Amino acid sequence: MTNLDAYRIAKEPFYRSVGGEVGLFEAAYRSRMPVMLKGPTGCGKTRFVEHMAWRLGRPLITVSCHEDMTASDLVGRYLLDAEGTVWHDGPLTLAVRQGAICYLDEIVEARQDTTVVIHSLTDDRRILPLEKKNEVVKAHPDFQVVISYNPGYQSVLKDLKESTKQRFAAIPFDYPEAAGEAEIVMREAGADKRTAEALVRIGARSRNLKGRGLEEGASTRMLVNAALLVAAGVPIAEACQVALVIPITDDDDLRDALTGAIAACV
Ligand SMILES: Nc1ncnc2c1ncn2[C@@H]1O[C@H](COP(=O)(O)OP(=O)(O)OP(=O)(O)O)[C@@H](O)[C@H]1O
Ligand SMILES: [Mg+2]
Repeated sequence: MTNLDAYRIAKEPFYRSVGGEVGLFEAAYRSRMPVMLKGPTGCGKTRFVEHMAWRLGRPLITVSCHEDMTASDLVGRYLLDAEGTVWHDGPLTLAVRQGAICYLDEIVEARQDTTVVIHSLTDDRRILPLEKKNEVVKAHPDFQVVISYNPGYQSVLKDLKESTKQRFAAIPFDYPEAAGEAEIVMREAGADKRTAEALVRIGARSRNLKGRGLEEGASTRMLVNAALLVAAGVPIAEACQVALVIPITDDDDLRDALTGAIAACV
């Protein structure tokens, strides 16, 4: 059996809790309930699942889902080698056999005919049929599926099937409140309090532009990036341009509005 040591998280990943999400996840994990982490980009979903895997002492196998992903990419396939054809477990099968948390990141990117392979694992059967191998794998008692989902970015064509959605409990995520977000920026980028607080104010201003041209305001991730540039000696106004204004929009008016907000906050 493949050794999952590489998937174990040895050191506590820093995660600042913003509500009851740690307790909720633990409650769901008690019955190995499938969990959906729902929230905008860069708000801490991936960090949270890493933290929870560490806390629960489970290996974490992450799969970044994409449009061209097939069921075989998840489940496994026969590959040709010197001895002939040999079966190779995919990441999902590995997690199922050995009791890892399987994190399917950006699940809506996968085609629906790929996503359905998790159906038998996310209801009370907890089995994974490997059709090509004529084998049915019973999930390890500690196995759990976690998926992430950015609400609002989906088109009708790109959404989860109702029968997929309804297998999951959802924990909502959002950007942390100001004091919490400043603490994160300080911890993640080694920023001083003043810089962190200024960046958090800028973040809040940018989020007010959501729906008024901006698809989404600046994420916590962007604020951390801006702080890292500041820590490397870039003046804060320029750091904000590079880490946040230029990536987030190509629209001149919106860039002006953001630049004005930055000037008012630093
Ligand atoms: N609550 C938090 N505690 C600690 N760090 C956080 C928290 N929220 C955000 N961060 C910081 O923001 C960065 C981005 O978070 P993360 O990668 O978890 O976002 P995400 O929600 O998974 O985004 P995406 O949907 O784009 O994958 C992290 O690398 C970390 O630096
Ligand atoms: Mg993520």
